[in-house]
Order: sequence, then structure tokens, then C-alpha cells
Amino acid sequence: MKLKGKTAVVTGASSGMGRDIAYYFAKEGANVVAVARRIERLNQLVEDTKDFEGKVIAYAADVTDKEKVEGMIDEAIKQFGKLDILVNNAGIMDDMSAVGDIKDEMFDKVFDINVKSVVYSMRKAVKHFEESGGGVIINVASVGGLYGGVAGATYTASKHAVVGLTKNTAFMYALKNIRCNAICPGGIETEIGTGEFMKDINQEGAQRTGIGMVLNPRFGKGSEIATVAVFLASDDASYVNGQCIAVDGGWRAY
Ligand SMILES: NC(=O)c1ccc[n+]([C@@H]2O[C@H](COP(=O)([O-])OP(=O)(O)OC[C@H]3O[C@@H](n4cnc5c(N)ncnc54)[C@H](OP(=O)(O)O)[C@@H]3O)[C@@H](O)[C@H]2O)c1
Repeated sequence: MKLKGKTAVVTGASSGMGRDIAYYFAKEGANVVAVARRIERLNQLVEDTKDFEGKVIAYAADVTDKEKVEGMIDEAIKQFGKLDILVNNAGIMDDMSAVGDIKDEMFDKVFDINVKSVVYSMRKAVKHFEESGGGVIINVASVGGLYGGVAGATYTASKHAVVGLTKNTAFMYALKNIRCNAICPGGIETEIGTGEFMKDINQEGAQRTGIGMVLNPRFGKGSEIATVAVFLASDDASYVNGQCIAVDGGWRAY
């Protein structure tokens, strides 16, 4: 087992990649605090993993609530005595609009969830890691955080922010045994397409970004992201720090 005895917090664990990351972590022996708003989904994950080596507990939270985000780190320490791994995975899509069509409400919400919550949790986690002797942070960014035309301007900017936070944190804390990397998924089969801003999509933006989909060889599965997360969380990745790894089946290798 790659993560036996470790404690992890995984945000966005009620569906998609976050659910798979939490599932694989528990299978690999980690105790996991699974975070999302939909508690019934988290309870199902607890049920699905009950026979695994690692224990999963459900923590209902909206990651735009700073106190709740800080509380999830406290919860890990309270329940399992420590925190070793933080996975910032919760995120939403924008409406595919170019910068000229950005709506303020959408911009604020995407940044609250995709960026500010990541800052809140990293800020809290690194304090604990400094005291405990180290830790691992994995941020789920996107190939949209590496390139410019995968989604709308808001989502793209939010994921570039996550990439920047990842690299800066890796550099700043490299002497403190804290590793920080990002996974940048390509197109993965999840529920992200049903998000609130995807319901009223900007057609012009969607058409423009859709051009790139021709190069996508196939959609990936959450499990194909979770196995990369296990690697990055494990000691196998002890010398991997500050990397933003595209996991996209070769979509953006063109
Ligand atoms: N799917 C893709 O093709 C793709 C590609 C690149 C990057 N990504 C990134 O991958 C990450 C996971 O997305 P996914 O594709 O797995 O999507 P998903 O199936 O829609 O899952 C998103 C998760 O985020 C949680 N979440 C959303 N808003 C939240 C909030 N305010 N507070 C707490 N949790 C919240 C959701 O839980 P609740 O609704 O229960 O709160 C859910 O568990 C995101 O950061 C996304 O940007 C996805």
C-alpha cells in the first residue's frame, strides 16, 4: 500500500475525480476527510470504502466558507491526529465566455471556489506541515491552466492562478519538506458539464474553444487521475515538487 498510515483531506469528493481520488487513497491505506456540499454522496463514499484499509469520513462544507475550509484541516487532525496530504480538487466551470462577456457574479463565484478556497486551505495546511515536519499538497488545475483556449477566460484565469500558487508554494516551502504539485487534467468524464454556469453557455466562446476538441484522442476516467494523485501523494514522488502535470491522453501534445 502506497499511503498506509497517511491522513488526507480531499475536496470535491462527492463526484468525479475527487470521489475517485478519495476512493483510491483509502484503498492505498490513507485515512481521508472527504469534503463537499452533498453529504449524501459523501456518505455513499464512506459506505463504498468501508472495507478498505483507510477510513473515510464525510465533512460537509461549501469551500467558499473560509471557516469550514479551515475546519476541514482541523477535522483531519482531530479525527486522525495529523494531516499529511491535502488535495484541492473542488472546482466549477465558467460559461465559456471570452473576457468581453464575463459576468461579474460568475467571475466572483468561479474565483471563490477555484482559487480563493485553494488559498484558504493551503494557508492553513502549510502551518500544520511546518509544525509536523512536512506534507504534500496536490492541486487539481487543468490543461486550461497551462494553455489559453480550453475554456472561457474566467475558468482559464482561475486555473492559471492555481498553477501559479502551486509553483510558488513548492519553491517557498521546498526547504521545509513540503511538496506541492498540480495535476492538469484534460477532458475527463465527470459531472462538471452539469454545473450552474454550463446551463447558460456562451455560444460564441463554446464554438471557439470547441475547435481544440478535435485533437482530443478520448475522454479520460477519474481513476486515471486518481492513480496520478496516489503517485504524487506517495513517497515515490519524494523528489517531484512544483510540477504541473498534464494528464490528458496526449490531447495537448500537439
Ligand atoms: N472534468 C474535466 O474535464 C476537468 C478537466 C480539467 C480540470 N478539471 C477540474 O477537476 C476538478 C474536479 O472536477 P470534476 O470534473 O471531477 O467535476 P465534478 O464531477 O463536477 O466534481 C466537482 C466537485 O467539486 C465540488 N464542489 C463544487 N463546488 C463546491 C463548493 N462550493 N464547495 C464544496 N465543493 C464544491 C462538488 O461537490 P458538491 O457539489 O457536492 O459540493 C464535486 O464534488 C475541478 O477543479 C475541475 O475544474 C476537470
